[in-house]
Amino acid sequence: MGDKGSENLIELDTGESIWESFFTVFPLVVIGTREADGSDDLAPKHLAMPMSWKNHFGFVCTPRHNTYQNIQRDGEFSVTYMRPSQTVLASLAATPRCDDGSKPVTQALPTFAAEKVNASLVQDGYLFLECELQQIVDDLGDNSLIMGRIIAARVAEDALRSSELDDEDLIYASPLLAYLYPGRFTEIANTNKLPFPAGFKR
Ligand SMILES: Cc1cc2nc3c(=O)[nH]c(=O)nc-3n(C[C@H](O)[C@H](O)[C@H](O)COP(=O)(O)O)c2cc1C
Repeated sequence: MGDKGSENLIELDTGESIWESFFTVFPLVVIGTREADGSDDLAPKHLAMPMSWKNHFGFVCTPRHNTYQNIQRDGEFSVTYMRPSQTVLASLAATPRCDDGSKPVTQALPTFAAEKVNASLVQDGYLFLECELQQIVDDLGDNSLIMGRIIAARVAEDALRSSELDDEDLIYASPLLAYLYPGRFTEIANTNKLPFPAGFKR
């Protein structure tokens, strides 16, 4: 009886990255920073989430990316939460750099300026965060965790929860984008209320 549930399990090699062997669910955000030459940088990230119940946000990035270097230099960044209709835009922001280190695709993306940090946000996203760098944790394999304090936040009107509109109807009208790593995505429109245990408190 004790062994039930551990049948049919495949042992994964933890000497290699395990995350390509199955699917898991992530958001897809675009991080905005300022390049050393003053131009915009935008890059998609899926390893991204709040870092506390308060207003902290973090994402995983490799120090090789300009995003990391720009944040290390300037101490600030923006975050745009993308909608399902923007999947191609988000992906385009990962276009490899030219030999001279430039990334012209960034100039082609529709953006507007953040208000409290020196970076751009992607038009038509649904949640826009402006963050000042709090801490970088290096040496997570090839990656680092970049954590910021959210100093400004704006949400699109159609994505704002309200007592007048049922949450189910809100998400149906303004669906969410889920990145299913590695390499698939879906639009989430149909959702159910989570059955919390009686008396549950956060
Ligand atoms: C869908 C998608 C998700 C990505 N998620 C991440 C991520 O979570 N962390 C990361 O370091 N790179 C991620 N990348 C790769 C970078 O965004 C990409 O290499 C980018 O071009 C780096 O740009 P930069 O040099 O301007 O920072 C992702 C790419 C795609 C297409």
